[in-house]
Amino acid sequence: MKIGLLTAGGDCPGLNAVIRGVVLKGDRIYEHEFVGIKGGFRGLVQDDIVPLPRQRVRGLSKVGGTILGTSRVSPFDHGGTERVQEVMDKHQIDALVAIGGEGTLTVARMFHDDGIHVVGVPKTIDNDLSATDRTFGFDTAVSVATESIDRLRTTGEAHSRCMVVEVMGRQVGWIALHAGMASGAHVILIPEVPVTREQVCGWVQHAMDRGRAPVVVVAEGFSFPGEEQQADTRQADALGRPRLGGIGEQVTRLIEEQTGIETRNTTLGHLQRGGVPSSYDRVLATRFGTAAVDAVSAKLWGTMVALQGIDIVNVNLRDATSALKTVPRDQWEEAAILFG
Ligand code: F6P
Repeated sequence: MKIGLLTAGGDCPGLNAVIRGVVLKGDRIYEHEFVGIKGGFRGLVQDDIVPLPRQRVRGLSKVGGTILGTSRVSPFDHGGTERVQEVMDKHQIDALVAIGGEGTLTVARMFHDDGIHVVGVPKTIDNDLSATDRTFGFDTAVSVATESIDRLRTTGEAHSRCMVVEVMGRQVGWIALHAGMASGAHVILIPEVPVTREQVCGWVQHAMDRGRAPVVVVAEGFSFPGEEQQADTRQADALGRPRLGGIGEQVTRLIEEQTGIETRNTTLGHLQRGGVPSSYDRVLATRFGTAAVDAVSAKLWGTMVALQGIDIVNVNLRDATSALKTVPRDQWEEAAILFG
């Protein structure tokens, strides 16, 4: 079989490890041929496709980013399934392995509905995809955020300041919750759980009164009840989702104004997505890659590889894309019992 690989959406540590897993097992066990589609769905509609021999993927499990490049381009704005099928026919590509998050896998599901042979691999640092217990990239992002918060804590303590840290998480608070718990934050703010301004200031003041330098971790998608974030629609991405940001700065100003405690904000941003994957993410991504090529060989079209417990399984793409996996309130409460 001739198989096209693409990585789409935001990048994520572990993408290259998936590519390596697919190609090495596919070459050795099944004798498939592989091509790389450059820049996500952009390469598929613009016919930007290169050979992907096993020599090209050697040593990739520890390399950040993606050798194929990525984009948030939607194929449905550029000819849709018809154009995709035309390009696949030209290159005699039998099937696609689409590695991506919610947006990418939704496109893959639509391709499948239109008769294109496709298998999905879930990726996102946000860990918000349903039907899989984990996505690779999350562990690395949490490690980077935790180390950063640990560093910010010591400078906060030196100056008796409150330190606010804004982490990624447009719609869910998994990174904020895990990095906040790991670093012993005094406040964790996530989109799923409403928290008032008074509660935030109360926890910060309480920590200060106990002689601690308060640490507040806030997910970029958090907003106070009744105050949706003023998203910058001029910077909407290809899926039409407006860019967020600035909540860390807002929380910082609130704390200073209401408590008088000197406060600084740090927005970690894309530091959480860059660099080498953690060993956990390398292993998960490699397992996803080898399982994806098994799924293609078994012609399990319209499925996605997923982690359930310690097992890699195949799930329906529809189940993976029907709803986001949000943080259950009781998991946030496990952390909140220690706030302040
Ligand atoms: O979906 C992953 C993610 O990292 C989100 O947490 C974040 O909101 C978004 O991507 C940022 O996207 P971009 O790189 O396009 O600014």
